[in-house]
Amino acid sequence: MLEPTYITETQFINPLDLSRELKEGLLSEFAFISPKFLYDNLGSHLFTAITLLPEYYPTKTEKSIFESNKLEIAAALGLNNGLIDLGAGNCQKAESLFTALRPASYTAIDFSLDYLKEILPQLQNKYPEIAMFGIGLDFSKNLQLPTSVVSSGHNFFYPGSSIGNFNIDEAKHLLKQIKSALKGGGLLIGVDLMKEDRILLDAYDDPLKLTAAFNLNILRVVNTLIHSNFDVSHFKHSIKINHPLQRVELYLEALRDTTVTFGDNVRSFKYGELIHTENSHKYTHESIKSLLSSAGFESFTTWTDSKNYFALIYAR
Ligand code: AVI
Repeated sequence: MLEPTYITETQFINPLDLSRELKEGLLSEFAFISPKFLYDNLGSHLFTAITLLPEYYPTKTEKSIFESNKLEIAAALGLNNGLIDLGAGNCQKAESLFTALRPASYTAIDFSLDYLKEILPQLQNKYPEIAMFGIGLDFSKNLQLPTSVVSSGHNFFYPGSSIGNFNIDEAKHLLKQIKSALKGGGLLIGVDLMKEDRILLDAYDDPLKLTAAFNLNILRVVNTLIHSNFDVSHFKHSIKINHPLQRVELYLEALRDTTVTFGDNVRSFKYGELIHTENSHKYTHESIKSLLSSAGFESFTTWTDSKNYFALIYAR
């Protein structure tokens, strides 16, 4: 059986850095936890389940854009080039392009290498002609890829509007790094567009409460990483639409006064106090092009859906 090549997590993700980052966030006046901690193995499965919800429009809409424009997308990206998938998750989005793009290699990068190890072997078996690599990497700060991974003509793939989970400065920093890693290829990026509150509220606070479970699971991830004693039942999922900053904000709200300890640290939360866990920025066609331009990209091909909910951009 053909096996993907894994580049192990320990090389790239330093647990000490992660626990320092978590402690700093929790001890801040306005507590926060980076959204990358949403994606342990369970969190990745919960996110996959969210993408199946009728209310969560981004994944379906992006898929419909891929499907309606496959040939044009393949013509823009070129055939047989390597594909580097940032935040690959279940790799389904990339897979939907394999037949059209026929990439020579596929590199799946994700914060959860465990999750990639569940997904990639089946994919490798299905597409034995594509050389597959799995990398557990936290690229939220630095995109340091092994030199063997990026070669001439490789395209980066950053679908799902994951760029929206970075604040604008971080997004610019990441896009700059992608631009400078390119050797003749480009970046195919999916971006969620600003829309009515009603649609956003249903997508980020769904009636089945999958998003609530996804958000609350972050406390279990934190408990594992820093040996804290968060009681998940003391918090609830809560969201806010921040119009001036054009984003949906996710929080965990304390349902009672509660105290959490980790190492020598103690953090108390008052009833109603919030822990900020995620921002999901929504762009306009103009604002995303201006962000990409500020990161050094010069040419853009854009595809969108009939409701103008989502944009797929090939930037070079
Ligand atoms: C991965 N990311 C683009 C999702 C989003 O829509 O911002 C994460 C998510 N958060 C809540 N639901 C989904």
